[in-house]
Amino acid sequence: MDTALSVEEIGPDNVEAALAIKVRPEQEGVVASVAHSLAEAYANQSSAWPRLIFDGDKAVAFLMGGFDPDNPMELFRCGIWRLNVAADAQGKGYGRFAVEVLIEEAKRRGFSKLTTMWVPGDVGPEKFYVRMGFTVTGEIFGGQVVGELPLK
Ligand SMILES: CC(C)(COP(=O)(O)OP(=O)(O)OC[C@H]1O[C@@H](n2cnc3c(N)ncnc32)[C@H](O)[C@@H]1OP(=O)(O)O)[C@@H](O)C(=O)NCCC(=O)NCCS
Repeated sequence: MDTALSVEEIGPDNVEAALAIKVRPEQEGVVASVAHSLAEAYANQSSAWPRLIFDGDKAVAFLMGGFDPDNPMELFRCGIWRLNVAADAQGKGYGRFAVEVLIEEAKRRGFSKLTTMWVPGDVGPEKFYVRMGFTVTGEIFGGQVVGELPLK
């Protein structure tokens, strides 16, 4: 991955670029739209961490971390809530970069574990997350597979 990648907070100047990010049509059932996620971020401002990834001046991916250290459910204390790589930008390392960004932010906040959840099946991101080092915990939450990654 080259050094042209950047991570931006979402605001008036780039919200349209964020909303323009669409996954492949067959993937729409496995991840919420960016618009839906931004609405959730608005409603959960203390814990949601939405960001836009740019390659140069092109928005290529949306990610949303969730940091809620006092949540009674461990699953929701430090995790990847959303990751949407634009359909024409998939397979180029942006998803990996997004996970690395979340890992760094989680470590900066003092967490020792990052969790995520995914819809099982071939269209879902299981192989990607396993490639990123997540292991399946065996827990199923809301029909989704729970994965976790220890942070060193
Ligand atoms: C899953 C997703 C985030 C992956 O992002 P991406 O940018 O395409 O993935 P990357 O190019 O960074 O791939 C990183 C590694 O994972 C592997 N990988 C990615 N998707 C894979 C798949 N479907 N099957 C097998 N391996 C896969 C890549 O081959 C690569 O491996 P390498 O390190 O050996 O080169 C992206 O395809 C996406 O947005 N999918 C739709 C929405 C979704 O499922 N989001 C996650 C739900 S929260």
